[in-house]
Formats: sequence, C-alpha cells, structure tokens
Amino acid sequence: MSGGLAELHEKARAVLDPVHYDYYAGGVGDEVVLGENEAAFGRLALLPRVLRGRVTRGLGVELPGGRLAAPVLVAPTAFHRLAHPEGERATARAAAAAGTVLVSGMASTVAIGDVVRAAREVASDAAVWFQLYLQPDEAVTEALVRRAERAGCTALVVTVDSPVFGRHRRDAEHGFHDLPEGLAAENMRDLPGCPPGGVRDIEMSPALSWAHLDRLRGLTSLPLWLKGVLHPADAVLAVEHGAAGVVVSNHGGRQSDLAPAAVEALPAVVDAVAGRVPVLLDGGVRGGGDVAVALALGAAAVGVGRPVLWGLAAAGEAGVARVLDVLRDEFDHALALCGGRDVGDLTRDLVVTRGTGVTARCG
Ligand code: FNR
Repeated sequence: MSGGLAELHEKARAVLDPVHYDYYAGGVGDEVVLGENEAAFGRLALLPRVLRGRVTRGLGVELPGGRLAAPVLVAPTAFHRLAHPEGERATARAAAAAGTVLVSGMASTVAIGDVVRAAREVASDAAVWFQLYLQPDEAVTEALVRRAERAGCTALVVTVDSPVFGRHRRDAEHGFHDLPEGLAAENMRDLPGCPPGGVRDIEMSPALSWAHLDRLRGLTSLPLWLKGVLHPADAVLAVEHGAAGVVVSNHGGRQSDLAPAAVEALPAVVDAVAGRVPVLLDGGVRGGGDVAVALALGAAAVGVGRPVLWGLAAAGEAGVARVLDVLRDEFDHALALCGGRDVGDLTRDLVVTRGTGVTARCG
C-alpha cells in the first residue's frame, strides 16, 4: 500500500472498535483470496515507454451512468456509520468533490435518497450508482429499484457473486451478527412485507438466475452493471442479457475463498467481452500503480473498497477525499512514468510478470 494510504489504514485500525475493524478488514474462510488480491498486483510490473508523454495527462473516463475525473470509483461497502457518524453521507460528499462515482451499497446505513442528496449538495451533476442484491421476493427488488430511481441514481450495480453469505471467521469469533442499536440498513426499511417502520433482512438466494436479471432489465431503463463476474463465459452472458458493463470482482475476498485474485481474472474477461461493454475491476487496489496495471490489462476503471473505509474511519469526509486524491495523484504519476498521455496509452504489452521480464501470462 502506498505511504499515504498505509497511514490512514493504521489510524483507522487505532480508532475503530476492533470488532468493526475486523468486519471491514476480514475475508471469507482462510482469507486466501483476501491476501491474493493484493499479492497478485505485486507480481506484475509495467514496462515503461519513453519519449511519448505530455505535460498534462488525460485521466477522465466516460462510463454508462457517469463520468469519472480519474479511473477510480468507490466500490459498494456496507455500514459506513460503523466507521463514522456521518457514514455514507461523508463518503458521498468526498466522491462528488473528487468527480467520481460512489456505488452506494444496498446495505447502507443512510437511505439512498439522503446519500444522493449529500453528493448533489457538493456537485449538482454528481453520479451515484445503487448496488443491488436481487431479492427472492421480486416485489422487494422492484421497490428498491424504484427507490434508487427516485433518488436520482444513474446506474444499478447488481452483485451476482453472493448466492449465499460468505463465512467470515473473524465475525464468527467476535459474535458480530447485528448492527449496534441505532444503526440499520436504511434502504431495507418499509419495504413490501414489512410492518410500518420495519427493516427487512437482506436475503441471498442460490436460486437467482439470468431470468431474474432479464426481469430486472424489463423493470428499469437505468444502465445495469453486473458485479462479481470472474468467468469469461459469464461475462459473455452478461453482455447478451443487456448488461451495460461488468465488474470483475471476488467481493474483496469475502465470498468464495477459492476464487482467483481479481486482477488475474481480468484479462480473460476483457477478451471475452471484446470491447462490447466496459469492464471494471475491484479487489486489492492499494495504490495508483495498481490502477495503472489494471487499466493496462483492459479495465476501464477500478473500484476501491477498504481503503475508502479506512479514510472514512480515520478522518470522515476529509479522509475519503485524501484516499481518492492519493490514488489519482499516484495514478497520474505512474502514467507519466510509462510515457502515457491519457488512459488509453496503458496497453497490455506494458504488463510483465516480475522475475521473468516477459509479457505477463495474461498478455
Ligand atoms: C464489501 N463489498 C460489498 N460488495 C457489494 O456488492 N455489496 C456489499 O454490500 C458489500 N459490502 C462490503 C462490505 C465490506 C466491509 C467490504 C470490505 C466489501 C465488496 C466491495 O464492493 C468490493 O468488491 C471490495 O471491497 C473490493 O476489494 P478491496 O478494495 O476492499 O480490496
């Protein structure tokens, strides 16, 4: 992790309740994938090109549902008010100020309408996307979609890697199952099947299918991103079923502990999609160099999860702003050092596997 971000991580560790720190930091099973997401970036290097740069570089990226001032967006993570009293409002303000997208979690401790309002107070054109777990009761899914639309979200991110809950050993050891008194998953309040004011549990179902996605496609005209795609065949299906983009992700090592590192799964998905829709990556991005490697392997942009939580816990809105600023600045520097003029100059031939000096296996 880069210097600036490591410091925020340490500060977050110091201020957070250790149970909540472990909830954020932990992964599934033996946490193999959690470690691999970061380690895999460490195994990749970038071959610089020379004598082709320019003084100011183009970092912006256009995506279905919004523009990013730099190719880093905020991945959806749950329960930001465990990190800071302002919770997702603070995250939304920082993302809007940085000119990037916040993917706001369905398991947010601030209702989506209030999250979007906070972002738009900072930038009237701020783009907030809503992360959705398809619910087995489709009336609940539809109510959530309408909420996101009414709030002004500009895309939906459907997380498809969670047919069942991941088993998180750290949470089990702490007995952490419920939010503290006064905090709730606010988007789940007053949904069909709830008593007035009641909060529904988020359900995971292994019976969800492409047919559910097709019905969702029929419910809304918002761009749909599919998050949690690792197999190239699923990326092809996603395109065929009308996805506006796919997110290569293993949920930050919180679902299957048998999955490959996200960055190792990326090239095959990029190849399978063949430019028809943009591909995002999240998992293990801890510095601007990682952003550059992911873009060189074909990602249009990356998402960051835990680094944002560390910034939020350490210093609220200013902490999240700092994380996004460090990543943008380091990415710009890495791009300059590769002789890049804009993000399109990061190409796969630049990526080599460390210790071999040859174009990465994935290349
Ligand atoms: C997540 N992630 C996640 N993803 C999602 O689609 N819905 C969710 O509710 C959550 N919740 C969540 C909570 C916490 C504490 C973490 C750390 C992560 C996964 C997230 O979107 C993203 O895939 C990973 O966080 C990316 O990995 P890094 O950046 O944390 O390494």
